[in-house]
Amino acid sequence: MPDAIATASDAVSFDEADDRNTPRPQTTDFAAIVDRAQSRRSFMGGAIAFGASAFVMGTTALTPTRTRAAAHAAAGRLGFDAVPANTLDTITVPDGFSWHIVARWGDPMFPGAAGFDQASRGTGATQERAFGDNNDGMAMFAHKGRNILAVNNEYTNRAIIFGNRASRRPENDDDVRKGKAAHGVSVIEVRETDGYWRIVQDSPFNRRITADTPMEITGPARGHDLLKTAADPTGTLSLGTWNNCGNGRTPWGTYLACEENFNGYFSSSDPDHVPSAELRRYGVSTTDRGYAWATTDERFDISKHPNEANRAGYVVEIDPTDPTSMPKKRTALGRFKHENAEVVVAVNGQVVVYLGDDERGEFLYRFVSAGKYTLGGDNSELLEDGKLYVAKFTDDMRGEWVELTPATTGMASDAEIRIHTRQAASAVGATTMDRPEWVAVNPHRVEAYCCLTNNKNRGIKPNAGGDATPVGGPNPRRANLYGQVVRWVPDNGDHTANSFGWDLFVTAGNPVVHGDARAGSANVTADNMFNSPDGLGFDSKGLMWIQTDGNYSDDGDFAGQGNNQMLVADPVSGEIRRFLVGPKQCEITGLTFSPDRRTVFIGVQHPGEKGDSHFPDGGQSVPRSAVVAIRRDDGKPIG
Ligand code: FEO
Ligand code: CA
Ligand code: CA
Repeated sequence: MPDAIATASDAVSFDEADDRNTPRPQTTDFAAIVDRAQSRRSFMGGAIAFGASAFVMGTTALTPTRTRAAAHAAAGRLGFDAVPANTLDTITVPDGFSWHIVARWGDPMFPGAAGFDQASRGTGATQERAFGDNNDGMAMFAHKGRNILAVNNEYTNRAIIFGNRASRRPENDDDVRKGKAAHGVSVIEVRETDGYWRIVQDSPFNRRITADTPMEITGPARGHDLLKTAADPTGTLSLGTWNNCGNGRTPWGTYLACEENFNGYFSSSDPDHVPSAELRRYGVSTTDRGYAWATTDERFDISKHPNEANRAGYVVEIDPTDPTSMPKKRTALGRFKHENAEVVVAVNGQVVVYLGDDERGEFLYRFVSAGKYTLGGDNSELLEDGKLYVAKFTDDMRGEWVELTPATTGMASDAEIRIHTRQAASAVGATTMDRPEWVAVNPHRVEAYCCLTNNKNRGIKPNAGGDATPVGGPNPRRANLYGQVVRWVPDNGDHTANSFGWDLFVTAGNPVVHGDARAGSANVTADNMFNSPDGLGFDSKGLMWIQTDGNYSDDGDFAGQGNNQMLVADPVSGEIRRFLVGPKQCEITGLTFSPDRRTVFIGVQHPGEKGDSHFPDGGQSVPRSAVVAIRRDDGKPIG
């Protein structure tokens, strides 16, 4: 097989692979770290302590300081009995709730499409007409009495999808075609019959968007020289979307698919080729991660078409109700390893989108539209034009949004800022974060939350741009194993305000194993502990659902935490309760509700990624990522 896949291993996470492929400098600005640490110490002396007392950082503007005992005592609004941690190869939900599978990787989406073949695990042709792999973010849309579910298919586990091959890698052109077709977005109409949701195979709304679907490049970077390629000299049209991680949904009924680890699909036919510094900041290297796309599609060969990689890393807007519509890459929202895109309409009607860049030491962003949302009006181009900001947090529990402009960044144009967004954020000295994953906005209060999943490099190594990662602010633990959820409250109750207060809603940890900062905050107990918060979303009652993508060894630092899980948190009381435990070696990701709120849909991604699961079909079946529906047995609303 080609060099492109020679060094790949899908047992290694995306961020780990990027760390290896693009080694960071081992030295950093230690003077800056010392300065920050000193200010942190004085701040902690006054207000913060880890462990058994109050680490939930109450300020008068945010939430009352609480104790671990108080967290135990609060009966709260959660309305279910906690599920114990476990390492079973199934889904566990509380008594009084049931779950079923809605869609699995390889399920046919169109009339006459072939069912999943356990032996071959599908072909290029069957995969193009089937539900994609590794489902992640998703949203359900009610449209003319129908329910349309748009679902990201983030990536593929090569050892599973090509598990029929001796190499457990793509071995011919059709394997590569199958892999590309397993990526992108699956749009499916689903219907509930007798309490069970199923794909409507003959629905006119069903659509597969893959790594080859034509899309329009819009916004400030449209037509920029850095986006022009041999295939598209105009820099306005691109093919496909891949590694779509979290998602967003707009009030005007469109779906946002967010391109995350887009870099791992590019490789070089020229072994001496050295990617530009700009591409290396995004982790583009001469070896891909086992997809081999460059072997059949030259645009993934960066020695021949280096600008192709500049055409990925965006938020893609899709109309789920029109299968003939062309998806739009919204460059106004910047280019980085997008997690999700949390959309909220501010008090004055401007649309605010919060955006995380999930890599160690990268940043948290905010877009504010130029235009205003109007109910029933034409809002279709609100993501075309607006201002892009990056967050700076300070240890006094305040923060500001710094606008990224040629004046503040020293960069040549708005277009360049939207293409080299990481570099722009570095130029203004934004706060390096512990891997920002999903952002969620409370529908009942003007406040937002972001999962900072973990960061083994915190206080140890700079980020990919050489920015220091000092311990402090919302990233308070060196070599952060467990992650935390930061909350911010915009000033004046206005999401367009350029300043905010912040605290940590929860600092994950293991209070059974550790008695120091690694025990976590007061609202973490032996009964609800978890690591690596990732997916995040609110229900209509204002409860926050937290999904994990972490270490599932159930051993050592993670002893007693079991498989990845989903918890429900009350933002008012701070209480957190485990709602669900996933099957072996999966993460839980993706969250949406049926219009009647009687079903919550969640995603089980990469069960058995290291070879030890047969979820969901059991026996000796191939493990398959799946969309799962969960309902109350009494039929009442769930969220
Ligand atoms: Fe695809 Fe950052 O998770
Ligand atoms: Ca994620
Ligand atoms: Ca993650």
